Amino acid sequence: MNRVLVILLSLVLASVVCFSSSFADEMCIPLGNIELSAPQEVEAKRAAVDFPHSAHFSINCQDCHHTWEYGDDDMSCMTSGCHDELKPPKEGDKIAYFKEAYHKACIGCHKTMQAKNKTLEMSKRPVAQQLAKTGPTSCVACHPKE
Ligand code: HEC
Ligand code: HEC
Ligand code: HEC
Repeated sequence: MNRVLVILLSLVLASVVCFSSSFADEMCIPLGNIELSAPQEVEAKRAAVDFPHSAHFSINCQDCHHTWEYGDDDMSCMTSGCHDELKPPKEGDKIAYFKEAYHKACIGCHKTMQAKNKTLEMSKRPVAQQLAKTGPTSCVACHPKE
């Protein structure tokens, strides 16, 4: 088999790709699905979410990993001081609360894209082929019934 094909195939089959650079010791990017679940300390009301990471790679990494800079190998949302609050604060900004952060990012983007598609559909041009693929916004589409 062609060597390029072997490399491509192993990339497709791998669940992570890792590489090192002079900046970061080693960085591993999870491909395929990442299971997103509530932190252990939380009694989860909903099933964990299967997040197709690589289905989102047409989006700029920094749209989600918004504080990431080249060379930084910590890309978790649950890093201390990021979105690791277990409960919503009584008042003020709730974004440190993990659920708020995920819902705002995931549902927010899918809804914005759906709204844009709707506007395109309503404009009376033949735009079907321009409608962008987007993601789920209903509870059970992300948190399957157990
Ligand atoms: C686009 C995907 C998505 C949609 C749609 C969505 N969620 Fe979530 N939700 C998540 C993610 C990701 C988390 C964080 C990981 C986790 O806790 O499973 C989360 C966390 C939660 C949590 C906190 C953890 C827990 O299980 O107690 C609750 C409660 C929850 N979601 C309820 C809902 C409800 C109710 C709806 C519908 C109104 C909904 N979600 C819609 C992705 C989604
Ligand atoms: C649509 C949002 C989104 C996009 C776009 C995205 N990611 Fe992610 N990525 C996530 C989420 C959510 C996680 C899970 C984070 C967690 O478990 O706390 C994750 C996890 C990771 C992790 C593992 C972090 C860890 O510590 O476990 C790496 C590395 C990563 N992403 C790199 C990338 C790179 C590189 C790109 C661009 C090619 C990218 N991501 C694009 C949302 C995204
Ligand atoms: C910045 C925009 C953006 C954000 C943020 C985002 N998504 Fe998506 N999502 C998309 C787009 C675009 C697609 C369609 C990708 C495709 O199928 O080509 C998608 C598709 C999906 C799909 C369906 C994939 C399929 O194969 O049909 C799921 C499930 C999903 N997203 C979950 C999530 C979850 C969970 C999060 C938060 C951790 C998230 N998304 C954050 C834009 C986004």
